[in-house]
Amino acid sequence: MKYTDFGLVNTKNMFSDAISRGYAVGAFNFYNMETLTAIMRAARDTHSPIILAVSESAMKYMGDDMLMGMIGGLKLNTVDGVALHLDHGSSFEACAHAIELGFSSVMIDGSKLPFDENVKISRRVAELAHANDVTVEAELGTLAGIEDENTFGTESSYTNPHDVIEFVKQTGIDSLAIAIGTSHGAYKRKSDTEELRFDILADIAAELPGYPLVLHGASNIPQNYVNEINEFGGEISGARGIPAPQLRRAVEMNICKINVDSDSRLAFTAGVRGNLAAKPNGFNPRDYLGAGRQNVYENCMNEIRSIMNSENKL
Ligand code: G3H
Ligand code: 13P
Ligand code: ZN
Repeated sequence: MKYTDFGLVNTKNMFSDAISRGYAVGAFNFYNMETLTAIMRAARDTHSPIILAVSESAMKYMGDDMLMGMIGGLKLNTVDGVALHLDHGSSFEACAHAIELGFSSVMIDGSKLPFDENVKISRRVAELAHANDVTVEAELGTLAGIEDENTFGTESSYTNPHDVIEFVKQTGIDSLAIAIGTSHGAYKRKSDTEELRFDILADIAAELPGYPLVLHGASNIPQNYVNEINEFGGEISGARGIPAPQLRRAVEMNICKINVDSDSRLAFTAGVRGNLAAKPNGFNPRDYLGAGRQNVYENCMNEIRSIMNSENKL
């Protein structure tokens, strides 16, 4: 199906508006009915454009039919400003499949490949996507990743500002994800004093004036959720995210899409743990999943307002 049949939009106008008006569109990952409806309710209540992000593993978890059935169930209209985005597409085939299902935006993640191979695969995806009016994100530089849920991965390399013009020109992509010190997961910084590399971001923005830049691994890791999880039986210590002032500063420097997954995971888990601890005799999944959903909704609202600055930008 075509994404317009679902009332979705691609990210083209979204990003040009975000850059001209100085905000970022939140790209929130979802993986079930609870997280999807929480994100959508937050977007609707704040009149904010939104990107619904789905990883390949989340697609597998939901199943294509259930995933697209839920998107259909949102009964969207293009004026709602909602994009459905494949997060970290690992191959041409994965992107092609997402486009066929009705995604309006795809990321091809060739960031671990040598420059020329990254160009090649990103260009191939861009050609297919553009033939379907779908927008494409690709990545230069690599983020440190999650080794497991509780450890800090160290393999990373910053984006080289000298490469970005050539990459964008040769690939024809619509937005570029860059590495300036963020990382995936809940363990992003070893100390509170670590700063993102704003010097690199400034150099990239100067090379590509007005061009949409994307920040992955940008969760803020709200400490109230970390503390609640630990209070009610969890064991996640030392989890640290990107402080909101740094994220807001990045938004002022052409970052127009901020990816958030870990914050929703923490919010959801804190809600579930808190609910089960408060009601030890409860066993109705709607109660504890509902508590998780409410937390995700509140966190998305908060980040749309205090980090993305996208409230009332629809
Ligand atoms: O950037 C990665 C996202 O957080 C997706 O993670 O593959 O576990 O769904 P996942
Ligand atoms: P976080 O782990 O910081 O939420 O990053 C999510 C992300 O980049 C999804 O692509
Ligand atoms: Zn990511």
